[in-house]
Amino acid sequence: MIIAIDGPAGSGKSTIAKFIAKKLNYSYIDTGAMYRAVAWSADNEGIDLDDENTVGQWTEKLKIEFITDPEGQQIKVNGANATGLLKNEVVGRGAAKVAAQKKVREILVAKQQEIGRSGNVVMDGRDIGTQVFPNAELKIFMDADAEERGKRRYLELKAKNMDVDLENIIAEIKQRDLEDRNRTISPLRPADDAIKIDTTKFTIEEVIDQVMEKIKLKQNS
Ligand code: C5P
Repeated sequence: MIIAIDGPAGSGKSTIAKFIAKKLNYSYIDTGAMYRAVAWSADNEGIDLDDENTVGQWTEKLKIEFITDPEGQQIKVNGANATGLLKNEVVGRGAAKVAAQKKVREILVAKQQEIGRSGNVVMDGRDIGTQVFPNAELKIFMDADAEERGKRRYLELKAKNMDVDLENIIAEIKQRDLEDRNRTISPLRPADDAIKIDTTKFTIEEVIDQVMEKIKLKQNS
């Protein structure tokens, strides 16, 4: 079965997706990390992220690998472990920029479809249920108030000893969502057949219970 989990930044999708994948013994693919990998590596290479042609050519050559180990999922970009370097808002904003570009999306969506072809995968992102796997057996769309999402992201980054400011994070998350929801290609939106969960007032455990219940229903149908 393919489980697609979409939603804006800080909605809780990656926490839930990782947990569910572990519980079901499925692979977990964080597609946001792929857009982040493109933005981060292109920027390191001195490429202007607004230069669609050059970013597209760079993405074509880029090697992105996911490695599952006991420490959690690691991501390698052109052979180098980039796991700890991608999860900050500067890279997030760059990712949103390249994610609005046609060539980048074509290449990454094809990679995601290839990875998911063998099934038993939990994939999270913005367009998994609408574009990458429109026939996924289960589609979840998670959302939460922007303030709550900002707070979660703040605590996550703070726990990694990063120097962060809550108001800045909330403003950045709101701006990134605005861009993701309003872009022309594959905007963030729930698939018509997605189950929508507002996680604002729920604990992680409560959301996991809700998703597991939906999975059991699918498995028994
Ligand atoms: O999920 P994450 O915050 O890591 O995603 C970073 C950015 O990558 C998003 O803001 C969005 O612009 C882009 N993205 C996307 N499609 C996906 C996953 C991420 O456009 N499937």
